[in-house]
Amino acid sequence: MKIAPILPALEDQQARPLPLALGIPQYLRQVYWWAYVHPRAVQLFERDWLVNLILFGNYARLRDAALAEMGATVSGRTLQMACVYGNLTVKLHRRLEADARLDVVDILPIQLKNLGSKLPPDERVALMHGDSSLLACADASYDQVLLFFLLHEQPWHVRSATLAEAVRVVRPGGKIIVVDYHRPVPWHPLRPLMRAVFRRLEPFAMDLWTHQISEFMQDVPQLASWSKETYFGGLYQKLLLVR
Ligand SMILES: C[S@@+](CC[C@H](N)C(=O)[O-])C[C@H]1O[C@@H](n2cnc3c(N)ncnc32)[C@H](O)[C@@H]1O
Repeated sequence: MKIAPILPALEDQQARPLPLALGIPQYLRQVYWWAYVHPRAVQLFERDWLVNLILFGNYARLRDAALAEMGATVSGRTLQMACVYGNLTVKLHRRLEADARLDVVDILPIQLKNLGSKLPPDERVALMHGDSSLLACADASYDQVLLFFLLHEQPWHVRSATLAEAVRVVRPGGKIIVVDYHRPVPWHPLRPLMRAVFRRLEPFAMDLWTHQISEFMQDVPQLASWSKETYFGGLYQKLLLVR
């Protein structure tokens, strides 16, 4: 699968100019180099069973919850913000209707390349090198936007910008589907472990325990609807936002 050097949406008259150069953000270089940036990271983490283990056996449930929001078949234009390990995008691709389109944007070419190796060649799919917090896509150009475990990895200001971009690029009435961490119930047996993991490896993830995702969206226009479901004793959440 070819990786678009520039966003295909630039063909669109309304597309915004691209940032001049896309470097690797500091939080990925310093905090998540071991998970996404280092070439061995892909070799290590691109295993369904490992992704499932990291999510305590909840991968399929969370993946399917996200896919269910898009329907048994997916029509229109979908934007997936960031690649993910595992088979989420493969399954999403299988649901695409004949005239549907799937764009996946990621800041790391190595991740786009890895995703390309999991998908069959398909002109309905574009893998785009870009920054979720500053997309070149036109306003209201997608029917749905998916963010799967992206927000907890981003510092607050990047997360806010990513959410603002999701709202900007989805059309009125379109959906934003977010699956990510959430504050677990007080008696959750994994609380101490997850707290230690976040402290050591995922320093921005605690924000999702201490704040609702709405709190990262202060400057975003009013949405038509907002619903939240939690899973596994509240450790995970799925949000469905309708613009
Ligand atoms: C979606 S998140 C975490 C996914 C989850 N841990 C998994 O793999 O199942 C990881 C991806 O986000 C990408 N990413 C992080 N910050 C980004 C940004 N600002 N713009 C685009 N992609 C970003 C990383 O390059 C990486 O491919």
